[in-house]
Order: sequence, then C-alpha cells, then structure tokens
Amino acid sequence: MNCVMDRRGIVHVKDDESFHKPLLPIYKCKKELVQAAKENQFLIVTGDTGSGKTTQLPQYLYKAGFGKNGMIGVTQPRRVATVSVAQRVAEEMNCTLGDTVGYQIRFDDCTSEKTVIKYMTDGCLLRNTLTDPDLMKYSAIVLDEAHERSLSTDILFGLLKKQFQLRNCKKRKYPLKVIVMSATLEIDKLSAFFGYCPVVTIPGKVFPIKERFFNLIGPRDKESTAYITETVKITLQTHLNEPAGDILVFLTGQSEIEKACHLLFKKAESIDYRHDVYDSSVEGLLILPLYGSMPTEQQKRIFLPPPAGIRKCVLSTNIAATSVTIDGIKCVVDSGFVKQLNYNPRAGLDVLEIVPISKSEAVQRAGRAGRTAPGKCCRIYSEEFWNKCMPDHMIPEIKRTSLVSVILTLKCLEIHDVIRFPYLDHPEEKFILEALLKLYQCGAIDRTGCVTKLGHFIIEFPLSPNVACAVIKATSFGCEDLLLPVAAMLSVEQVFIQYGDSLIQKEAERSHEEFHELAGGCNDFATLLYIFEQCKSSLNPSSWCKNHGIHWRALKSALNVEKQLKEITNRLRENKDFPIERFDGPKNEFLRRCLCAGYFSNVARRTMGRTFRTMDGHGSVVHIHPSSALFGKEAQLEWILFHSVLVTSKIFVRTVCPIRYDWVKDLLPKLHDIDAYELSNVAREEVTNERIMKRESKDETGQCNDRIQEAIN
Ligand code: CDP
Ligand code: MG
Repeated sequence: MNCVMDRRGIVHVKDDESFHKPLLPIYKCKKELVQAAKENQFLIVTGDTGSGKTTQLPQYLYKAGFGKNGMIGVTQPRRVATVSVAQRVAEEMNCTLGDTVGYQIRFDDCTSEKTVIKYMTDGCLLRNTLTDPDLMKYSAIVLDEAHERSLSTDILFGLLKKQFQLRNCKKRKYPLKVIVMSATLEIDKLSAFFGYCPVVTIPGKVFPIKERFFNLIGPRDKESTAYITETVKITLQTHLNEPAGDILVFLTGQSEIEKACHLLFKKAESIDYRHDVYDSSVEGLLILPLYGSMPTEQQKRIFLPPPAGIRKCVLSTNIAATSVTIDGIKCVVDSGFVKQLNYNPRAGLDVLEIVPISKSEAVQRAGRAGRTAPGKCCRIYSEEFWNKCMPDHMIPEIKRTSLVSVILTLKCLEIHDVIRFPYLDHPEEKFILEALLKLYQCGAIDRTGCVTKLGHFIIEFPLSPNVACAVIKATSFGCEDLLLPVAAMLSVEQVFIQYGDSLIQKEAERSHEEFHELAGGCNDFATLLYIFEQCKSSLNPSSWCKNHGIHWRALKSALNVEKQLKEITNRLRENKDFPIERFDGPKNEFLRRCLCAGYFSNVARRTMGRTFRTMDGHGSVVHIHPSSALFGKEAQLEWILFHSVLVTSKIFVRTVCPIRYDWVKDLLPKLHDIDAYELSNVAREEVTNERIMKRESKDETGQCNDRIQEAIN
C-alpha cells in the first residue's frame, strides 16, 4: 500500500491490488459505446452494477477525443460515490486527482483548468446551470445512476431535454452529448422520454444467490427500531457460521450504523476463534462503516482487501446497493429498511423517515453478494413482511419531497411554467404549488411568480432557502459571524456522537447537556454556535471533539463550510442592491431574530401541556424532541421556532429555540396572504412580452427592493 497526494496536498491511500482485476463486462462493448455516443445526441447505457459503467465509460469517451471541446461531466446522486469514483479513475489514469480527473461536491471543488473528466453530484451540475445555462463548458454530460431517480437528476433530465436541445443548435459548434446510465430499470420509459434514443446494454453475469428469511421482523415491527439489534445478531451469526468471504450489511443511517458497529465490535471481542467459528481460516473481523457524509480519506478503506485471515464486514446505508461496488462480498445481511426524505402532509414539511425498502431494492441489495461467485443473502424480516410491507418499486424522489429549491432554480433559469416542464414523472400539482407558496412566503418570488432580488441572493447559497434567508438577514446587519457557524453546523452530518454502549453514551450525553447549559440553557441553535466556537478556538480541535462526545469530522466540515459561506456573503455585500440595516435589539436576541427571517414558517405556539401547534396552514400538533435543550421545559415556553421535523409515533421538532410573538407577527400573515388559485396561474403562466418588459423595467427593480426590505424587516 502506498499514498498519493492530490494537488491540494491532501493524501489519499493508493491500493496496489486494485489494478490486478479481471476485465470488467463493459470492456466488450467499448467500440459499440464510443460509436453510439458519436452518432447520437442522446444515448442510454444500461448494465448491472459493477459492470464498469461509472469508472470506464468516461475514460472511453476521453480516449475517443470527446474531451477536446469541453469537459466530460459525470453526475452521481451521492457525495461519497462521487469522490471515491473520481479517485479511482484518477488512479487508473495515473494522474493526480484534480488534474485531468477531478470532482466537485457541495463545498468541495477539486478541479482545475486541466480537468477533463469531472465527476460531480447531480445537485452541483444543477447549480452550475445557473451560471452556465447552456453548459458551454461541457462537451458531454453523463447522468449516472439514473435508476435512483434522485430529484436533481430528474430535473436535469427535463432541462437537458428542453433547454439544451433548443439552444444546442444555435450556440454550440458541437452539440452537447447526453448519456444516461442506469441499472436495468425503466429503460423503455427513459428512451421514450429522450425521443426514443438508442440503448446500449452491457451483458452481465450474475451468480445464483441463496436467499433466506430469518423472520425476526414482521409487519407489526414496521415502526420499531428492533431491526438494528436483530441485524447485528444475524451478522454475528453469519460471521461465525459462514465460510471465509466478506459481509455487507444494509442499515439506514449514520448514527444507527455507528451504534451497530459498536454493538458488533463488543460482541465480536469475546469470540474464541479456536472453537467458535465454522471456518478455521477465519481469524478475525474487520468492522467498517459506510455512509454518505463520510470523509474522503476514510472511504478508501472500504475498498481495500482485508488482511489475510480477517473477514471484512461493511455496515452501510443504501449507498452500497448501487452507487459503490465493494469487491469480495460473499454474504449480504439486509435489515429491510431505508432512510428516506419524504414530504409529510401531516407536518407540511420534508421529514426523514425510516421505511421498508421496495422489493426491487431488496433484490438489488441481495445481488451484491453474487458478483464474482455464488453468494448468500440473509433477510432479517419475514416473508409476510416482504408481501405486506414492501412495495414493488420505490417512488421517485420528485414525487415525495419538497420542491422548493428546484422550483427556485427553474425560475432562476427563466423557466416560469413549472407545471408544464417536461418531468419524467410529473409531481403532484399540489406539491408544486406548495413550493411556490414557500418561495413567495420567504420573498424569493413575487406575486407574479418572478424571482425577486432576494431570490437571486438566496440561490447564491448552497443552503435551503430558510437558512439562506437567515444568513442574508444577519449579513444585512453586518453580524453574519454569529449566523454562519450555525448555518454551517446545520448543513453537516450529525454533530453529537451516539454510542450504543450505555456507559460511554451517558458520559457523552452529560457533556452534551453541559453544552446546552453553557450556551444559555434554552436554545439549540446557540448550542451549535457554542460548540463551533469552542472547537475552533481550542488548541487541538480533534481531541477536543473526542473528549466532548462530538464528531470531529462533522466539525471539520463545518469549519470548512463556514469559510465558504463567508466568501459568498463577502461577495454579495459588494452588490449595490444588497440590503444594509441596523440591529437595535439586545444582543441575546440577535441570533433568534435572524432565524425568524428565514424560519417564520417553522413557528409553533404552545397549546396544552407539552404540545405545540404550528402556525402554517397545516396547524399540526408537534412535540419537542428529547435531544433538545428545551425538552422538559415546555411549560415555560409559549412560542418556538424549529429547524427540522422527525416523525415517529408523534411529530417531533428538532433544533429548537424560544421566540417572541413580536418578532414574527408581521411575517405570519404572509403565510396566508396568497391563495392556491393565484399560485396555480403563476405556475402555469407563459412569459408574455408584457411581463418581460415589466421585469426589465426600473420600476420592478424598485419593487423588488421593497420586497427585500419587506421580507427582511
Ligand atoms: O458503474 P458500475 O456499477 O457499472 O461499475 P463501476 O462503479 O464502474 O465499478 C467497476 C469496478 O471498479 C468494480 O469492480 C468496483 O469494485 C471497482 N471500483 C473500485 O475498486 N473502487 C472504486 N472507488 C470504484 C469502483
Ligand atoms: Mg455506477
């Protein structure tokens, strides 16, 4: 094993073994693929996961000269996959990461003028269209992992079909090539969407997989967390009873995976390898977590073969189902659950929910064990669970999450008729209207559906409009230093470490409670700010985190994110239209009053006992989550503001602070001052000449400024 350094001085581990691999299935289709890409503007490539699409096809295009007239941009729905694939391809091409091969994810751009193959998240490409609407920097766009049907990929489908087809002919010397890559799902539908474009199928070989239901989870356990311990139990059993070969375990999210790793580690410690294991060549267990927000340096460990005699066991989120392929997996343990962002009509908000996976996802998960030899899949749930609780297919994200950010992006791209946009799957009209309503409420669009100046400022931030509004408000007061750390802390992974083990967990919890107290005792946002500042000013931030039950890597990214947000606010302040105000209230109200500017739709008032009622049209009854500093103090509160919602048996609000009615009373009427009928016209409206003129006139600029003031005041 040796190391490589990228152009920014970051060291990556290089794996020598990886180059001694049998040829990937895609190799046989190389000529056909290059030819088809040359002859067609739209092309679909399909093949089983692990056949080499993501790592090889961009290299084929590069070698065939596609990179001469612009970059080859490859999108991925997930950050981890984006970075690990770029690293891998840079190694295969023997170049430094960030030179010929680079990547870009939110808050981390590792590309240069030399970059030709650029891996990026789909969200990044969507953002890039705001500054480069014709994608003139690219000669080809590869939309990878299309079967995942992530929101940004779905929007890119429509954009590439609509915009670029139209504009291609006019502005470009060479038309933009669009290649959509997908595991074998819904190919006909995709091809029809892109004008019945050709499809190249990479033939693959899948080995048989023995599947077994362990009946530990049934339909009644749909909402319990029992599956975590049951999954750990089966994983240990598999380790003890199966012949050598690595194990891949599917769970749902970071904190749960860490808990499970901890549990498994505790159990594995007491194994006596002379007597307990079926296969005497197995002499140890290497437990590795894998989830979306994992730092780059750690990801590489997942792909390295384990030392001789040691069985590798990777506990992963759904990411290992299709986005990344780990070689050497002989056995899959499937918990049957996945964490999904769903729009919850009961709460009127996007909430993270743990739900049963679909049958087709379960088949995909099992398939990971049969790539190079026959394999096994242990399903911890029962056949009844499979029949009754698991849908056949997953619902695409566009039909189940909030559309606020993407609708604002479309509006900024001057696509005003957001109802008749070419969606591969049309979201429900009421979701589009809800998004417009939210944008109107926060002042990002006006009554006619046009983006306001504030809206243009909001879109500059890779943050949700709520947080962006609060940041803009603080910047207008010249005190963004207090809000940027909070915004940064809200955009990174979970900050508080949760250990499965009760003793350490208690200690960590004590430390977390202490932070709440030190930050004033009654404001979760202030706690985040306090932690950020303590960590930043400590001499050894990583050990400070370790000693206080805080994830160092989360804080490390927060420090980096804060720096980048600061660059954006500095830039925006140069803009002559950027609002400047004076803050007159007491200092301890500053943070909360800025938050009110962005989060006034997330406000609730106490009703009875410990419950609160939200003030948006939904009027849902919510409870304060036990992790909050305000938990148990409900009786002393009247109005609260919250960042996010978690739905289990009840609706919980997380990251909460108390506010005063005065601060929101002028904003709350905005939650009700436009009706659905008016909005549906706005959503459907074609841009008439009159409107274009109106938008361009000075009058309108004046109005926009008023609106900014109105929204910010
Ligand atoms: O995209 P597709 O699923 O068709 O395959 P791929 O991601 O291009 O993977 C092809 C091969 O490269 C697999 O055998 C992976 O294990 C390997 N690979 C790797 O070793 N390290 C990575 N970071 C990515 C892929
Ligand atoms: Mg792939």
